[in-house]
Amino acid sequence: MSENKTLSITVNESETSKIESVDFENLSFGNVFTDHMLYCDYRDGEWGTPVITPYAPMSMDPSSRVFHYGQAIFEGMKAYKDENDEVWLFRPDKNFERFNKSAVRLAMPEVPEDIFIEGLKELIRLDKDWVKKGKGNSLYLRPFMIATGHGVIAAPSAQYRFAIILSPAKSYYQGEVKVLIAEHYSRAANGGIGAAKAAGNYSAQFYPTRLANQQGYQQVIWTDDATHTKLEEAGTMNVFFKINDTLYTAPTSERILDGVTRKSILELAERDNIKVEVRSILVSELIEAAKDGSLKEIFGAGTAAVVNPIAGFSYKDVYYELPKQENPLSLQIKDKLTNIQHKLAEDTFGWTVKV
Ligand code: COI
Repeated sequence: MSENKTLSITVNESETSKIESVDFENLSFGNVFTDHMLYCDYRDGEWGTPVITPYAPMSMDPSSRVFHYGQAIFEGMKAYKDENDEVWLFRPDKNFERFNKSAVRLAMPEVPEDIFIEGLKELIRLDKDWVKKGKGNSLYLRPFMIATGHGVIAAPSAQYRFAIILSPAKSYYQGEVKVLIAEHYSRAANGGIGAAKAAGNYSAQFYPTRLANQQGYQQVIWTDDATHTKLEEAGTMNVFFKINDTLYTAPTSERILDGVTRKSILELAERDNIKVEVRSILVSELIEAAKDGSLKEIFGAGTAAVVNPIAGFSYKDVYYELPKQENPLSLQIKDKLTNIQHKLAEDTFGWTVKV
């Protein structure tokens, strides 16, 4: 057992490593976890000492609030290894800020910055061999918080666990992604929790997404709950549309997640003089653009999926195939972003943070 010097962290190192048993070339997203995890408990109004321990199941009382009322939030982040074996985080401050915004919205305590950021760095240092070099490789970082207080009264818990687990990752989607535009189901509503990274926002998508899968579509493009006329998000990603030479994406709102990849794409586009409009895009505009040939590309953007081109979409039982582009903007943007993340291009924004 050892103590970290700046933040006090108890570290119980694993005596063995699973790393030799992992096929890093054939990872399916989010199924393999590294040797260690971090957790930190909140009780009596304060956070305790974070503990890094071998990755293992957690024992919890069956009445813990998270099981009954879904009081749970998470973040999705990544670490990358450069050619000199240094490990880097991408805009961790943004994930930290959003995590605490989500905490406030779910009536949970905010996590102190040193526990989140220093705890994360210390955990990654211990498992740094799990971060593989090369574009396309990363370590997906999953900080989360759950309500651990006992009792099934429908009220916020008094006890919580913050934890971080790490998973080596390649791509999120395999192959082509076709999407179905939502006509009935909604991901979020005004006044709801759509802007928070709350676990329930994702489980609420499972059923409509399964229905879409059954029709041959991998994801759903969510529309606004009130009118189903505005295009908002694509599955677990923010969504961009290229019509003629302009890139469009919806403004963030109470219904839309303030994605770090989305934000970074907008900043990259501004730097590189790519025309962008942040405004609501109507389903009718999209259909018209698909029909007259001005719709060039649709892509999703998120930490897990990075930038994911969409091959076509369906609306009211009509399928619209997107034209194949020679040098799609989606892939140009993905390249610029991943070059910065892997330290293959100058980080003019100061986005990368050394672990
Ligand atoms: C991410 O992109 O990190 C997400 O949170 C999506 C997740 C559901 C895999």
